[in-house]
Amino acid sequence: MIQLENISKIYDLQEVKITALDNVSFNIDRGEYIAIMGPSGSGKSTMMQILGILDNATNGVYKLEGYDITTLPDKEQARIRNKHFGFIFQSFNLFPELSAVENVMLPMQYAGVPVKKRKERAIYLLNEVGLDHRMNHLPTMLSGGEQQRVAIARALSNEPDLILADEPTGNLPTEKGDEIMDILEKVNNNGVTIVMVTHNPNQGKRAKRIINLRDGRLESSITATGAAYAK
Ligand SMILES: Nc1ncnc2c1ncn2[C@@H]1O[C@H](COP(=O)(O)OP(=O)(O)O)[C@@H](O)[C@H]1O
Ligand SMILES: [Mg+2]
Repeated sequence: MIQLENISKIYDLQEVKITALDNVSFNIDRGEYIAIMGPSGSGKSTMMQILGILDNATNGVYKLEGYDITTLPDKEQARIRNKHFGFIFQSFNLFPELSAVENVMLPMQYAGVPVKKRKERAIYLLNEVGLDHRMNHLPTMLSGGEQQRVAIARALSNEPDLILADEPTGNLPTEKGDEIMDILEKVNNNGVTIVMVTHNPNQGKRAKRIINLRDGRLESSITATGAAYAK
């Protein structure tokens, strides 16, 4: 689905240049569930930004379905992002003035889905993540774990090919985090590709492949069966 070829990201600050990613290459196949791990500052979030086309690499090529998207104009990149990707963040990032169902409906509004369909699908997705009794709650009336479930439903709203989740359980107690992992596993079993950043080795093990970053370099890429990933 995705090929990254020699991706580098250099943040050019006034005094110094920071190499956040240094010549990283790997592929993501459809249906994969990848955990990106590595110490703080190793480039995990930068990698997620680039994968989600929220930022562009300084060097290297990003191919989506064989198509080089690296140098597309911002507008075209945004269109691809909205059509193909769903995002889940550590801090949930829900709109505080919108109810659970309205938060899930919003990306579908941007995608031009008619309002009746938006509502139907939002209700369906909130049911899927176990929030049938919380449809009209505002985020402040929900626990952290519940807010993250809303965020998962929202990420799924436009039927993405790929979900990108940067430390999705980072703000949750272990038990609630495990529930989020159960939901992500179900989403992957339904055919959605997932790339997730985690610090938690037990969560990393639940992915089908672990990519380790260190100092912006790809240190290893190991499948759940222990095999080094060839590509
Ligand atoms: N917007 C930015 N401007 C400058 N430096 C940044 C920026 N974002 C990240 N960095 C730097 O790039 C490196 C990698 O950061 P990051 O990708 O956030 O790592 P991780 O998510 O693994 O903790 C760090 O040294 C960080 O300080
Ligand atoms: Mg990070």
